[in-house]
Amino acid sequence: MTVIAIDGPSGSGKSTVAQAVASRLSLAYLDTGAMYRAAALWVECNGALDQPAAMPDLVRAMPLEISLIPAAVRVLLDGQDVTETIRSSRVSAIVSRVSTVIPVRHVLVAAQQALVAANREPGIVVEGRDITTVIAPDADVRVLITASAAVRLRRRALDQLGQADAAALEATSDEVLRRDRDDATVAQFLQAPLGVTLIDSSEQTIEQTVAAVLALLPRA
Ligand code: DC
Repeated sequence: MTVIAIDGPSGSGKSTVAQAVASRLSLAYLDTGAMYRAAALWVECNGALDQPAAMPDLVRAMPLEISLIPAAVRVLLDGQDVTETIRSSRVSAIVSRVSTVIPVRHVLVAAQQALVAANREPGIVVEGRDITTVIAPDADVRVLITASAAVRLRRRALDQLGQADAAALEATSDEVLRRDRDDATVAQFLQAPLGVTLIDSSEQTIEQTVAAVLALLPRA
């Protein structure tokens, strides 16, 4: 049984690294951010973005299916494939309005902890903002992946817009810097707590960061 918990801000590279680690070790992979993104889309579709009190019940009843296969992550909402939609700038712009509502977090934390418990064998890589602290504080490996703000902005701009000139960086800054500021009000992912290994990926290739995470695995 192996549980690998990975936290980090947007643009830190944590999703790519977490997927690669899961594939390499043939483990399940859970992207908890995808659940918050799907929840935001669901709340928006139900016209409740301005009604925090209505959100927990909506999210509890959300018809979400999420595959845990690292090479084939698919997210279905009410039977519709929303894998790409939840990554859009539109959803990035609204997701914190839902993910910072504490009773919504209680609903998703319970769902995520149940998924971790159900996949302890052969194991699971879980990534997000509160995995090392709330979802799986007893994980075998606990990592916080960071990168400088400049590097994170550049990565997100290249990812979303295919370029990283001044206009692209400006367009992406809300999605990275403002969102991290908002998200940091409800989860602790900017500094590594005791027992969590900090990996700064600013100057690293994906492969180097993957190797750094794998090196933390307890020897059998
Ligand atoms: O990792 P991401 O950018 O796809 O996450 C989307 C949003 O979900 C992010 O703005 C913060 C929130 N989130 C959270 O609050 N807790 C998590 N465990 C994962 C994501």
